Amino acid sequence: MNSHPTPPPDQNGPALRPHIYDGIQEFDQRLPNWWLNTLYGAIAFSIVFWFAHMIAKILPTDGARVDAAMAQIAAAKMASSIDVTNDQLFWDMSANPVFTEAGKATVNSLCVACHLASLKGKGENPGAVGPDLTDTAWIHGGTPKEIYATLKSGVLAKGMPAWEPVLGQKKTAEVVAYLLSHHKQGEPITVEIAK
Ligand code: HEC
Repeated sequence: MNSHPTPPPDQNGPALRPHIYDGIQEFDQRLPNWWLNTLYGAIAFSIVFWFAHMIAKILPTDGARVDAAMAQIAAAKMASSIDVTNDQLFWDMSANPVFTEAGKATVNSLCVACHLASLKGKGENPGAVGPDLTDTAWIHGGTPKEIYATLKSGVLAKGMPAWEPVLGQKKTAEVVAYLLSHHKQGEPITVEIAK
């Protein structure tokens, strides 16, 4: 019994390939353009994506996105129970970009005139009005709650405004967190008398 199909009558059409398996024959068809374009497009995309992700690192990694989401959650928890006498809470906030970025924005708009963008104040430029906030020598104490207290009442006689009444507790706490992000927990603190 010969069940081979007859070749198509159109000789310009796709040719039949010579093999036969289980009575099945194959045309030698060209793949359709939409299919080829999808394939080449996917290859091109994979190269661009690989470059952006692995080499240029333009896209945030999954790990970084998880860290950012966790920081948001931690920030929401801490913000719901700010206790300005709790040094550990301030240190935790200082490791959380949600607080330090917010604090940085406040500092950049309100504090840099006197303490400079580097926060080094007189430490960078002796002509600056404010002292260095990044060194370990403090005038009014360098523990988190002492820094908070300085921001709360200011040092009006020396030209340091009181900020907490203007900013409120949350923003002031963010500022403290940002200042602390320039310090290490447990670093030795010296309290100096103002020169
Ligand atoms: C108009 C100028 C001025 C501005 C603006 C200013 N400060 Fe000050 N700040 C000072 C001066 C002057 C002192 C030093 C006070 C002293 O000698 O007792 C000081 C001291 C401080 C201290 C205490 C430093 C220490 O060694 O104990 C902190 C903390 C501080 N400023 C934070 C800030 C923050 C945060 C802001 C912005 C929200 C800010 N300051 C804005 C002038 C300023």
